[in-house]
Amino acid sequence: MEILKERILKEGRALSKVILKVDSFLNHGVDARLMYEIGENFKEYFKNHGVTKIFTIESSGIAPTVMTAMQMELPMVILKKQTSKVLNNNVYQTTVHSFTKDLDYELTLSKDFINENDKVLIIDDFLANGEAALGAIRLVEEAGAKVVGLGIVIEKSFQPGRDLLNKKGYDVYSLARISRLDKGVIEFI
Ligand code: G4P
Repeated sequence: MEILKERILKEGRALSKVILKVDSFLNHGVDARLMYEIGENFKEYFKNHGVTKIFTIESSGIAPTVMTAMQMELPMVILKKQTSKVLNNNVYQTTVHSFTKDLDYELTLSKDFINENDKVLIIDDFLANGEAALGAIRLVEEAGAKVVGLGIVIEKSFQPGRDLLNKKGYDVYSLARISRLDKGVIEFI
């Protein structure tokens, strides 16, 4: 997506070989117009995938997902990050490890918001190691539903997430694919 790539080049800052800061339009400040266009792009790609619900993971996945859900006229569900296990049997939970933040959390989905006939599109802001995406997939599949695709705003293709998901057979569609980062350097595939 050209306008996204231009924006990343203009405002993104590579803090190291692995971290890209995009606080001005995606992770802190949010450009709603850009999010709308991201929603259009995801809709165009996923419109024939039979999606019934769109899932995201709090918090930075919410803005692009709400725009996609609005345009696809589909329900949206936010997977919660709990710090500990919830002791009731109305939720699905799975432990996710974030390598970037070096912490674990319990990704949580209420059974009220999924059923076995659902075909789920998962949208997130970044794909790095794929741990969050794999956690979301585990929750959907534990409910007996199917993941029909993953929509990613910024993929760091030099990290393992994309290959891991592709090897497992998931359709990953990323709007910007970064091949290399270094201080002051941002390169796309
Ligand atoms: P993974 O899911 O692909 O394995 O990624 P990882 O756990 O390593 O990433 C953890 C968090 O860090 C996620 O945000 C992810 O979006 C974010 N992240 C990963 N790489 C980058 C990066 O290069 N730049 C930025 N800005 N964020 C990155 P989160 O913990 O879910 O936080 P939130 O912002 O969604 O609340």
